[in-house]
Amino acid sequence: MSINYAASDALYKRASHVIPGGVSSNNRANWQPHPLFYQKAQGAYVWDVDGNKYIDYVLGRGPLITGHSHPRILDAIARQYQAGQFFAGQTELEIVLAEKITNLVPGAEMVRFCNSGSEAVHVALRLARSATGREKIIRFEGHYHGWFDNIAWGFNAPDDTDRDTGALMAMSRGQPVGDAGNILSLCWNDADALERLISSQAQDIAAVVTEPIMFNSFWSNIPPATGYLARVRALCDHYRIPLIFDEIQTGFRTDIGGAQARYGVTPDITTFAKALGGPVCLAAVCGKEPYMRLLAGGPTLHTGTYNAFPPFLAGAITNLDILAENSGAALAKIHLMSESLRAGLQDIATGTTLPMQVRSSPGAVTTTFRATSSVARDYRAARREINQPLLAMWHAALQARGVRITPEGLWYVSTAHGVPDIDYSLEQAAAAVAMLEQARRRL
Ligand SMILES: Cc1ncc(COP(=O)(O)O)c(C=O)c1O
Repeated sequence: MSINYAASDALYKRASHVIPGGVSSNNRANWQPHPLFYQKAQGAYVWDVDGNKYIDYVLGRGPLITGHSHPRILDAIARQYQAGQFFAGQTELEIVLAEKITNLVPGAEMVRFCNSGSEAVHVALRLARSATGREKIIRFEGHYHGWFDNIAWGFNAPDDTDRDTGALMAMSRGQPVGDAGNILSLCWNDADALERLISSQAQDIAAVVTEPIMFNSFWSNIPPATGYLARVRALCDHYRIPLIFDEIQTGFRTDIGGAQARYGVTPDITTFAKALGGPVCLAAVCGKEPYMRLLAGGPTLHTGTYNAFPPFLAGAITNLDILAENSGAALAKIHLMSESLRAGLQDIATGTTLPMQVRSSPGAVTTTFRATSSVARDYRAARREINQPLLAMWHAALQARGVRITPEGLWYVSTAHGVPDIDYSLEQAAAAVAMLEQARRRL
């Protein structure tokens, strides 16, 4: 199936002269056949500059849980833009949004707003260190907590290193090696390993930070093992270590109260971004009062010119209203649609000779290709034997058929996706798999 990307191709070449790699986030570079350029979006659909229309399961990599260009949200943003933009002071909007979050999220007694997930994690780590006077952070392989120097360690580990201690790899060149000394990285979903580490170094550990579902690292979407999060909570309680849930992926998608509500495990500090704001750039750090009150004047600092930007607060309030109203009907619909998608993709995976695997959590599905049928519980296992060329061909084949997923095989679902979109996408997925089977036979 051929598709024309000529206009995108020309813009990409032009962009590459003035923008490194032609993209403003390295995550956008890994696109087939090259980064594309887009011109408009509505509901579940986006159009690229060549006029190709796609059912969009990328959704800005998660934020657009209410779809593109939701009229109520755009209206709320526009009204606040007209009313006033920057005050370098407070608006009632931030109270309204903070009250909504504290009503919805079990672990949110107080809230502070910032602009990106990476920033929210930065605040959370600072709070934990300020509260404990300790410096070391325990994190887990394959969990992404943003790109800042002090946490972008230990995402990956060479397969041959000890599972318990991990070998800290920096995510990027240019990170100060000294930061690694404050990070301890472990395989996830292994409470015994965590206990061994905590019990040996408790007096140095400022926090345990985890995604409650290993959602967003390439090829994963792995749920916590039964009882795992509760054991992490119990260990943190026992050793008096703050527990941070990074809910930047799961927040308001897995459950309107976050994954913490779904699993019944309440962290001390939580970070949100993405689906909190919908189409606006907004993040939040929230948590139990004793931690959050550290920011109420005094020596623990959190500042930012752009924090709590009123038009974005107005958009986020409407976004959360849409998700929460009618007893959460919109989120229930998302979960139903993503379950239909998962079931249909699983049927396709079962019926093909390709090593296709399907995983999901509420509101998002992951498709991948691996040379083993075992079910991964942690990132090392998920990464092992991944068939990257097949995954890249799958991404390109779906895109050529008008279905847009992330290059890592992740499908986010929004309130705008309806049954016809899911049905069409599954037809195209079946056709893409048939094409990949043929291509493999020819090799
Ligand atoms: C779990 C998690 N934490 C933190 C981040 C960083 O957020 P941002 O890209 O807004 O800085 C991300 C981004 O994908 C994420 O998925």
